[in-house]
Amino acid sequence: PVLVVDFGAQYAQLIARRVREASVYSEIVPHTMPVEAMLAKRPAAIILSGGPSSVYEEGAPSIDPAIFDAGVPVLGICYGFQTMARALGGAVGRTGTREYGRTPATVAPESCLFAGTPVEQAVWMSHGDAVQAAPDGFTVTASTAETPVAAFEDRGRRLFGLQWHPEVLHSEHGQAALANFLHVGAGLPGAWTAGSIIDEQVAAIRARVGDAHVICGLSGGVDSSVAAALVHRAVGDQLTCIFVDHGLLRDGEREQVERDYAEGMGIRVITVDETDRFLTALTGVTEPEAKRKIIGREFIRSFEAAQRRVVEEVGAAGGEIRFLVQGTLYPDVVESGGGEGAANIKSHHNVGGLPEDLDFELIEPLRALFKDEVRAIGRELGVPEKIVARQPFPGPGLGIRVIGEVTAENLRVLRAADAIAREELSAAGLDGEIWQCPVVLLADVRSVGVQGDGRTYGHPVVLRPVSSEDAMTADWTRLPYDVLARISTRITNAVPEVNRVVLDVTSKPPATIEWE
Ligand code: XMP
Repeated sequence: PVLVVDFGAQYAQLIARRVREASVYSEIVPHTMPVEAMLAKRPAAIILSGGPSSVYEEGAPSIDPAIFDAGVPVLGICYGFQTMARALGGAVGRTGTREYGRTPATVAPESCLFAGTPVEQAVWMSHGDAVQAAPDGFTVTASTAETPVAAFEDRGRRLFGLQWHPEVLHSEHGQAALANFLHVGAGLPGAWTAGSIIDEQVAAIRARVGDAHVICGLSGGVDSSVAAALVHRAVGDQLTCIFVDHGLLRDGEREQVERDYAEGMGIRVITVDETDRFLTALTGVTEPEAKRKIIGREFIRSFEAAQRRVVEEVGAAGGEIRFLVQGTLYPDVVESGGGEGAANIKSHHNVGGLPEDLDFELIEPLRALFKDEVRAIGRELGVPEKIVARQPFPGPGLGIRVIGEVTAENLRVLRAADAIAREELSAAGLDGEIWQCPVVLLADVRSVGVQGDGRTYGHPVVLRPVSSEDAMTADWTRLPYDVLARISTRITNAVPEVNRVVLDVTSKPPATIEWE
């Protein structure tokens, strides 16, 4: 892989994605990882990200200079550029003038990073410190009015650095600079494509599964559908999908999934109704992590129960099914604290929510991927567009959208409000524009209202429309007021338990997309 070393910037994630857009596989690692551990991953190249610190501050994150002698091509960006300059004997200091935002730069056309791009180009700067002298052996390849050393390279040692942020779209030729580093500087072919990922995964799944039967936990969403299609390509009829109706689905969802699959997937699906199991297990539970762990556990218990049925109905050889396919994605892993050096933000039901006594061996062919990459693979596999383009819906379903106890009654109220919001958003043609729009019932909160000349003391529902590229960060979507007004009026008219509709106008961070 190409390792993106995270110096605490919000940019590391974006850099990793841009590298993948150049058809090269990338992974993020924390700067605290020892250099030996990084090298043990046999990196094809290393990118040092930007970061909020100043390189000469006490306690500023740094990297073992051994990284520059390992023969691995390195690109330093912003803070990473300054760290590199300092480690190799250059000078870094406070220039007195800060550069923020769009800045004109002049680049050397014969350089590696800027080959094929205009000599004058707009770049995105964000720095207070600057490299004042390049280390020995380096050629300066770009400058701006305030920053004479804005980029450098030592082609012999395959070391490169950039003061600006090539990963943000405001840097006009940023993607070209990254691609030049990867393809020319580091000599990496752009071979990581949807097709190559499919081939690789199909071969790996066949080798692992042999002629055994496998089951796949299917939610009808993008991730599990693409995982199922991939495994189906690998082992065909040895796959049975289990669609668990946990009673936490939205209005009409079960029927829709069953219809979509019957029409377009050609994969055997068994639906199991486990509403009682989940609602019983959730009785009296209000704490979000507790809910997530219970739901994760009951999913596995449901799969265990279903596998007996599969063995009977399909006659799976051997009488027992060892393998469980899950559509786990990279963000699920990172947010559940499974990414290297990552904090546990919330336990996604299929990662941090798994029970300890898990008997299945997991097959997770999408574990290294972001959602848009999964969609590309789905399209390549011929998964119908209505499934591939579906908005995300969390495995724990409405269970994490009832704030308070998850009861049949609370679910009924939330389901009614959610159906109206979804209907209006679709009617307004906004489905493609928003990433998803959770509707959240604040079952623990009540407020006073007036309806039909009478006092009400009902619950609020929250609309949470968000826009996002990969769910790791998100912004709240600016929905048209008239659409919001229609949703609000219809919900309060049709759902007597709800007397207020409120809009969540928080980005992620600091909030998350779901409320729990
Ligand atoms: P958060 O709330 O962490 O959500 O910002 C990020 C994305 O993940 C979805 N989500 C989940 N999906 N199992 C899932 O399959 C889960 O436990 C889970 N929790 C959150 C959420 O809907 C959003 O798209």
